[in-house]
Amino acid sequence: MNRLDGKIALISGAARGIGAETARLMVEAGVRVMIGDILDERGRETTRAIGGSDAAAIFHHLDVTSEKDWSGAIGAAVARWGGLDILVNNAGMFLGKGIEEASLDDWHRLSAVNLTGVFLGTKLAVPSLRERGRTSPQGSTIVNLASVAGLVGSQLDPLYSMTKGGVTLFTKSAALEFARKGYRIRVNSIHPGVIQTDMGEQTFVSRARNIGTNDVDAARQIALSTHPIGRLGTPTDIAKGILFLASDDAGFMTGAGLVVDGGLTAQ
Ligand code: NAI
Repeated sequence: MNRLDGKIALISGAARGIGAETARLMVEAGVRVMIGDILDERGRETTRAIGGSDAAAIFHHLDVTSEKDWSGAIGAAVARWGGLDILVNNAGMFLGKGIEEASLDDWHRLSAVNLTGVFLGTKLAVPSLRERGRTSPQGSTIVNLASVAGLVGSQLDPLYSMTKGGVTLFTKSAALEFARKGYRIRVNSIHPGVIQTDMGEQTFVSRARNIGTNDVDAARQIALSTHPIGRLGTPTDIAKGILFLASDDAGFMTGAGLVVDGGLTAQ
């Protein structure tokens, strides 16, 4: 399982949460990982913790809304390790406001991170991914972090849902465009249910506000009850799915969405 040994990856938003756990598991699997984030101090700590003695992980400042930052991070990975096999578009933000409460500035910020960030990462990584894809047995890969909110509507955060719906279909469209052009780059998305990270906590806070109690524990219980499997997800649950999609074991998958949601969208 998970044939990843010797590959080179860039993961956006990997200072903490799902991205950090993905970086940790990738390093364990023999991948050299560039960790990109706007949280420089946290990103460096994470990198130190998982990098091991052979510096298998490096931190690079990356604001996914900046073309210059993407070029810098990709260039640094290529300069250090000689190429790029895997891009994980993981950086994302949650807004937690209804349509009537959200401002135009809120939307601009949310769409810049969740949509523009994925577009820019994909666009700027293509030349390096294409290059390595030529000789790699199953090609290079992009894994996009969508959400269950990119498959079904979200009463908590309709604007977040709009961005993740965009990521879901951009994934399929990018897979088709690269296949048509003969690039050996597979593109897939992953769709987590509610995962226990900082962002997961933010969803409980907005759910509590929505039900008018400010009782975050009660909101957590409600969120839990929407997962038939009887628990919330962990970063490891999602990281394992990302590693599978990024690996040669998923060599016949492109334009697909892997749902890892404890049964939430099966209902
Ligand atoms: P998190 O909030 O714990 O981590 C997100 C990371 O992205 C942070 O390190 C943050 O600094 C970084 N980030 C934010 N804006 C950035 C920018 N402009 N440039 C670079 N990095 C930036 O969130 P979590 O839970 O780890 O989420 C990771 C991905 O999974 C996100 O795309 C999120 O939408 C998605 N997801 C999360 C779910 C959850 O319940 N936690 C559920 C479904 C999807």
